[in-house]
Amino acid sequence: MNASSKNTTFSDRSGTSRTGLEARLAARPEGLPASGDFEIIEVAVPDPAPGQVLVRNLFMSLDPGMLMLIAGESGLPMPRYEVGEVMYGDAIGEVVASADPSLNEGDLVMHRFGWREYAVAQAGLFRRVDRDAYPTPSTYLGFGLVAYVGLMDAAELRSGDTVFVSSAAGATGSMAGQIARLKGAARVIGSAGSRDKVAHLTGKLGFDAAFDYHDGPITDRLREAAPEGIDVYFDNVGGEQLRAAIEVMNPHGRIAVCGALNRQSKAGPDDRPGDLLGVLGKRLTIRGFTVGDHLERAPDFGAQFRTWLREDAIVYDETVIDGLANAPQALLDLMNGAYIGKTVVRLEG
Ligand SMILES: NC(=O)c1ccc[n+]([C@@H]2O[C@H](COP(=O)([O-])OP(=O)(O)OC[C@H]3O[C@@H](n4cnc5c(N)ncnc54)[C@H](OP(=O)(O)O)[C@@H]3O)[C@@H](O)[C@H]2O)c1
Repeated sequence: MNASSKNTTFSDRSGTSRTGLEARLAARPEGLPASGDFEIIEVAVPDPAPGQVLVRNLFMSLDPGMLMLIAGESGLPMPRYEVGEVMYGDAIGEVVASADPSLNEGDLVMHRFGWREYAVAQAGLFRRVDRDAYPTPSTYLGFGLVAYVGLMDAAELRSGDTVFVSSAAGATGSMAGQIARLKGAARVIGSAGSRDKVAHLTGKLGFDAAFDYHDGPITDRLREAAPEGIDVYFDNVGGEQLRAAIEVMNPHGRIAVCGALNRQSKAGPDDRPGDLLGVLGKRLTIRGFTVGDHLERAPDFGAQFRTWLREDAIVYDETVIDGLANAPQALLDLMNGAYIGKTVVRLEG
């Protein structure tokens, strides 16, 4: 996705021409990218044409899925990044100039023009949000809604369920475990990649049990954590964790397929679960979902999320990286397990 650009440059009130940084994919890597596969370039910031707005970005999201867009993998419901072009992703920013009556200077807006400090595009591609909803605008980039629709719509969570969440200390997983509990799960189990993260899950986030997936075999760890079996698996990972979940699931269990971190972390070959005899024998349901198909849930979820935050019923973990120049390395660090919760890049200033 590209914001349009023109040769005229945007001037602030003092008459100074503005420039901003943007990140482009410089080369399509084999496997995981290296810092040389990105270019950070300073570009002139154009004036908005009629019908457009100019937005100064405050925060952008870093998502594991971006590695698949870099690798150019097919099968995702969004276009890959093209070499030589600025990348895209979720971002939140502030309108600094508007040539469309639907948005005003000072409005806070969500959009898909991440990986750049300024975005200029048609006003309809930006969604105004309430400035006072959260203590920091970066919270809008969180994946609580992903977790919510995965649990409620894909897994059809029921009161009393035992729920297993993989990558449970990550952006989606940390929300999924806590929301499952708030929505009536009897027992919540998480897996993560380090002892510290496991302690964080059972400590601050209130999971009933957690294990490090490096301490395999994963099926054994999961059985110990869920001696009575699991009813719902919120799958962020695939691979061996999915196989273990199928093995430990109770009859008529439900799996919500949210992501494929096992594959994304290698940006490499597929890792299929093998045969699905366990799915057949136990009459399991496996349902993939994408949050974009459930956006009608956003107002309802947002209202509940704000109440949970206000009442300290949920912990929202966030890691903030400063500056666009640090974003490519941070994307790799994110996949290597360096951060907890949602990872965002602060672009302002
Ligand atoms: N369906 C949708 O609509 C939707 C929306 C958003 C995101 N997603 C997908 O959902 C998944 C989770 O997204 P997220 O943003 O919340 O990511 P995340 O969990 O915050 O991802 C980062 C974490 O992945 C873990 N990880 C890396 N390689 C792994 C491996 N081989 N096995 C297990 N864990 C590994 C690392 O944690 P450890 O230290 O624990 O290893 C790392 O901290 C991703 O696949 C993403 O693409 C789907």
